[in-house]
Amino acid sequence: MCGIFAYSGPKNNAGEIVVQGLKKLEYRGYDSWGIAFSKEQKIDLIRKVGKIGEFNLEHNKIPESTLAIGHSRWATHGGVTEANAHPHVDEERNFAVVHNGIIENYRELREELQKKGYTFKSETDTETIVHLIADYAKEDTFVVAARKALKRLKGRFAMLVIKGDEQKIIAARRGSPLIIGVGDGEFFIASDIPAFLQHTRKVMYIDDNEMVVVNDKPHFYNFNTGEEVQKRVVEIDWEAESAEKGDFEHFMLKEITEQKDTIYRAINQNDSEILHLADEIKNAYGTFLIGCGTAAKVCHAASYLFSKVAKRHVNIVVGSEFPSHQDFLKEKSLVIAVSQSGETADTLEAIEVAKAKGSKVLSIINVEGSTMDRMSDYAIHIKAGPEKAVASTKATTSQLAILTMLAYACDGRLTEGKRLLIDTAGKINDMLNPRYEEHIHALAQKIKDVESMYVIGKAVNYPMALESAIKLQEVSYIHAEGFAGGELKHGPIALISQGTPCLALVANDETRTDILNNAMEVKARGGFIIGVAPQEEDVFDYWIKVPDAGNASPIVNIIPVQLLAYHLAVLRQNNPDMPRNLAKSVTVK
Ligand code: G6P
Repeated sequence: MCGIFAYSGPKNNAGEIVVQGLKKLEYRGYDSWGIAFSKEQKIDLIRKVGKIGEFNLEHNKIPESTLAIGHSRWATHGGVTEANAHPHVDEERNFAVVHNGIIENYRELREELQKKGYTFKSETDTETIVHLIADYAKEDTFVVAARKALKRLKGRFAMLVIKGDEQKIIAARRGSPLIIGVGDGEFFIASDIPAFLQHTRKVMYIDDNEMVVVNDKPHFYNFNTGEEVQKRVVEIDWEAESAEKGDFEHFMLKEITEQKDTIYRAINQNDSEILHLADEIKNAYGTFLIGCGTAAKVCHAASYLFSKVAKRHVNIVVGSEFPSHQDFLKEKSLVIAVSQSGETADTLEAIEVAKAKGSKVLSIINVEGSTMDRMSDYAIHIKAGPEKAVASTKATTSQLAILTMLAYACDGRLTEGKRLLIDTAGKINDMLNPRYEEHIHALAQKIKDVESMYVIGKAVNYPMALESAIKLQEVSYIHAEGFAGGELKHGPIALISQGTPCLALVANDETRTDILNNAMEVKARGGFIIGVAPQEEDVFDYWIKVPDAGNASPIVNIIPVQLLAYHLAVLRQNNPDMPRNLAKSVTVK
């Protein structure tokens, strides 16, 4: 949610470098964008409404500078206008600020500054930061003024500030991501590593409540205490190409296709660590699985797997609701946080609540070095590589694979669980071929103009029906809802009319007969039944074959739905990578 990128170094095309960096971060925010750089000791700005991807650097020359900051916005405070786009500047144009997150006390600060005579040109909370710094800077140096301002901000944020007549960037964060890329005598600052991967794989992590003054070398301080903090440079192993689209038209399709090998990568973990974590689950006084959006559906599916495979009860709570469950937490409770980005604000808050209660936290995350990774007692990296399309695909199935493996490990059957997943990975590899995609594309053609569609599943495939509905809504914008098959006759079946598509997610297990009966009930009312199943059944009007994967059925069943959502999006002329109103990494509550 909102992308930040900055450059400081010897090259004098800083503005261009920042625009290129922002283009790579566009999936974080795409309603407007802007950059700031210094010109004749003052701040110069370029700000635009719309997608930065559409900005052509060849036709739009950016003035030379050796330092620049930039931002792609996903609006929270204030509509999508040029005035609300970042960077924001003070009246004298001495300072420019970009910011991700929410300043919770911005109203008070704004009133205080207005009383002092400052006028605001935007509706954003961000503008308060720049006036506050300018106000302190009347008496203090840039660094001291920035620190004084930072100490007054409440809420989660990541921000950068520059001053027109000084060759330095001040970066700071609390709760929102911000990472420094260390190049050869040059520095990049970004909300996500893929933004600077083409320049460097060396990074320095900024932790909460830290500010960094970046000029010849970064100096880290705790902005609350003023103490200097020592940092290491860490080399990460992501390949630059892994963050590019390559020959694919969209990231979403690339990431769906990558599921040919992401399951293998996910389960390639250190067995003794997995067994140790399984012991933590077994010994915990209450295990809580938490996540948001798709990750929450993965948690929900995992609760069935823990029950069926390990005969173990785990609680599931969506991140935003977790604080209301804190009374059930004990020191010996275990919270398992599931997240692709490791930065989702509601999941982070849930972790903070758990830590305050003394409970242990295990994170299952994709982005190494993310906030969740750094604040958890234990972490399992799912190793799916950068996931850039807003709708999660490969991270989902990798999270499911890890949780399936953990469930087996809890039952002393780690090897059996791994064998199942390796076998499933091989079957997915066979399944994802051009003919398969063509079959799903043909279905998308058939149903692309429907108003509503429904998805049903039972047991572990019930949460997958909910996840299927999310996928379809997110990118196709067709009204879609998921239900437990058995619940249909308690209300939703009233919504079925002639030709209404209904996907039935079927597993070849004890739930098969029930879910087929539920599909039959829909068909009897005119529904068009799309079966996602290992074998063809009489009730299906359209069959999408999936391998028979036993307890890994949620992994194989969700993949064709991801493909269907993708093709529906493209046929309906939506951009599947950047769906309207959504953001990849939801760093605000
Ligand atoms: C957003 C994304 C979803 C994701 C959710 C949680 O809504 O669009 O794909 O499932 O956030 O994100 P996380 O990074 O915590 O998995």
